[in-house]
Amino acid sequence: MTNRRFEEIDPMEEKLRSARSLEEEEQTVEEALLAQLDPLLEDHVIEEVIRPIKSGKEAVVYCCRASEALGGDLVAAKIYRPVERRSFKKDAVYQQGRERGARPDARTLRALGKKTKRGRLHKFSAWIAHEMRTLSLLHQAGADVPEPLDRVGPVILMEYFGDGERPAPVLVNVGLDADEAQPLYADVLRNIELFLVQHRVHADLSAYNMLYVDGRIVIIDFPQSVDPRYNDDAFDLLVRDVRNVNAYFEDYAVDLVDPFYHTLALWRQHVDPMR
Ligand SMILES: Nc1ncnc2c1ncn2[C@@H]1O[C@H](COP(=O)(O)OP(=O)(O)O)[C@@H](O)[C@H]1O
Ligand SMILES: [Mg+2]
Repeated sequence: MTNRRFEEIDPMEEKLRSARSLEEEEQTVEEALLAQLDPLLEDHVIEEVIRPIKSGKEAVVYCCRASEALGGDLVAAKIYRPVERRSFKKDAVYQQGRERGARPDARTLRALGKKTKRGRLHKFSAWIAHEMRTLSLLHQAGADVPEPLDRVGPVILMEYFGDGERPAPVLVNVGLDADEAQPLYADVLRNIELFLVQHRVHADLSAYNMLYVDGRIVIIDFPQSVDPRYNDDAFDLLVRDVRNVNAYFEDYAVDLVDPFYHTLALWRQHVDPMR
């Protein structure tokens, strides 16, 4: 007999150890992620998994059909990758980052990078809960974000944009008509301001995290969003968001705001008049 405690052996981790190639490893992860939808199927939260939309660094997204109770429409299921399959470095900036511009000290890094299973699970769950909460807050405030419908473990179900054939494109892959660029840009700036009024800076905003839906913009992907009242990096993150948005629209004849002065004006109005 050994001291090994069998209940701690994670079948995915076991399989990963025996994976012979990176492709095999990734396939194991994808299967394990898809399996996260099983409880939702069993409980009839969703009735059918229709197709994968995208497999990204932090999550995979599937198009599903919701149960009658949830309206029976198509929904997007965003399944978060387990923390050990993603990079931790990024989390540190958004969760801590109280010292503006400063690198977190060794002790902070150790605490954030805590390798215990409990620590990891806690952080994982907090990250997902934060996206769910932010989507609810912003959707209720009238922002152009998907309506969140439910959360089950590592899965967020939300309003889906697209049809049975294909999802709405990400803005970066869309060529706009000359006359729609300016109003769309104004919509994005209006959303950024609305977020700030609700104490949120997206912090990863760019044409990669906006869907183009029949001439409208829908902003997605909020787990890293920060609260400007408590995060000292929020101002710089907002300047960067505006700069990334400009980077897409500068190909069009659009009157662009200056990222720094625009952020400063918004900040004085909604966060701190003394800035
Ligand atoms: N509600 C949605 N409707 C349609 N497609 C979506 C939706 N949410 C996400 N997607 C697609 O899934 C991709 C990944 O989602 P995202 O929230 O940006 O996660 P990631 O952290 O992997 O970037 C998006 O780029 C988009 O193509
Ligand atoms: Mg994204």
